[in-house]
Amino acid sequence: MSALASVLAQAREREHRNTPVVVGEDAPLVVYFSSVTRNTDRFIAKLPVRSVRLPLKTTEPAPQITEPYVLAVPSYGRPGGAGSVPPQVVKFLNDPVSRAHLKGVLGAGNTNFGPLYCVAAEKVAAKCEVPLLYKFELMGTDEDVEKVTQGLEEFWQASMQPRA
Ligand SMILES: Cc1cc2nc3c(=O)[nH]c(=O)nc-3n(C[C@H](O)[C@H](O)[C@H](O)COP(=O)(O)O)c2cc1C
Repeated sequence: MSALASVLAQAREREHRNTPVVVGEDAPLVVYFSSVTRNTDRFIAKLPVRSVRLPLKTTEPAPQITEPYVLAVPSYGRPGGAGSVPPQVVKFLNDPVSRAHLKGVLGAGNTNFGPLYCVAAEKVAAKCEVPLLYKFELMGTDEDVEKVTQGLEEFWQASMQPRA
């Protein structure tokens, strides 16, 4: 079995048993928001990454992240597309320490929103001047798990290299 096929098989097994992924300390760190519908949460659970879920309520304190990470953010636009970045994510990124460690963005959304598909991730990436690494729909497909697993691994290795 190839390494990626093995990752997918493990992801399915974990989903089936509802057990968390066991990963090493040097695995990529993904910080994410996911509402009560938990689409993003289900997707992140299939990845071999360390993860931190942002609190559901803005009244709860946001975690401060002091090491490099990738942010996964679903879009929640009002009609017309305003305010698509969840306030919980805005609150988290308003902390300059957490914002300084952001390396890239993963976008979650629904293609029914047409040109506004994953618009929140586009906005965050542009504002924070980091790359938008990938977009996935709802809880993602097996192909998304495969591509994000591989892409994150490569991105992580490259990001962790000391700058020349
Ligand atoms: C009120 C509302 C507005 C949304 N706006 C957008 C949008 O502008 N663009 C988009 O791609 N998806 C949009 N979505 C879809 C969500 O981003 C998508 O369902 C996502 O998987 C939700 O993730 P979560 O279940 O982890 O919170 C919207 C969903 C809702 C309920």
